[in-house]
Amino acid sequence: MDKIALLHTVPIFRDLSEKDVVTMSDKMVSRSFTQGQMILLEEAMGETFFVIASGSVKITRLSDDGREVILAMLGEGDFFGEMSLLDGEGRSANVVALDESEVLTLSRNDFLDILQTFPQIAISLLEELALRLRKSDQQIESLSLSDVEHRIGMTLVRLSEELGKIKNGNVSINNLPYQQDIANMAGTSRETVSRTLSLLEEKGLVKREGRDLKIFDYSAFCRAFS
Ligand code: CMP
Repeated sequence: MDKIALLHTVPIFRDLSEKDVVTMSDKMVSRSFTQGQMILLEEAMGETFFVIASGSVKITRLSDDGREVILAMLGEGDFFGEMSLLDGEGRSANVVALDESEVLTLSRNDFLDILQTFPQIAISLLEELALRLRKSDQQIESLSLSDVEHRIGMTLVRLSEELGKIKNGNVSINNLPYQQDIANMAGTSRETVSRTLSLLEEKGLVKREGRDLKIFDYSAFCRAFS
């Protein structure tokens, strides 16, 4: 893996000079995880910060009755593991690899040093945390809706924003997450997700091709579901 090329594509490091990227890449160690492997366990003490080089992860917690609740999905260029390094508490959630994933890790001391040395990284990190809080606020709003079709629609809007590509007003999501994972984001069952996707397809709002999903007239879809 070309660590330097990857670090240039990571949004929170975008303002660093070439020299600073090289310095930082020297401190980072790469690690690989297989699909389904647990990367971080909720409540464990945090010693490491992670940047996703390839693949994707889900951030989860278990509800009291043992159901998995998905708080977010993160992909290439995203970071995780910052919260427990910042507040000294245990890990706030589990992190599980959704695919074969490769990450770059930084020790707690190096992470904290970098935030002090490069205030622009600290500001980018805060920007991303503000965005994540907005998404969590939307998820709380969505989960409080009683209409399950609406909850699934909002989840598809979120996945479009995180994973989709827009072209001619339509959004394509390649490799849509598994229906069970969509259900765990929307607080419903896999069967309901399957039924609702068929319903949305019958209405001509979406089309499935294998694991890809196309949403037609994305602005109208957003107006209907957000
Ligand atoms: P940490 O608490 O160290 O370990 C679990 C990580 O999951 C956490 O840091 C964040 O990086 C990430 N995380 C927790 N909650 C969310 C969320 N709502 N959205 C995105 N990432 C999250």
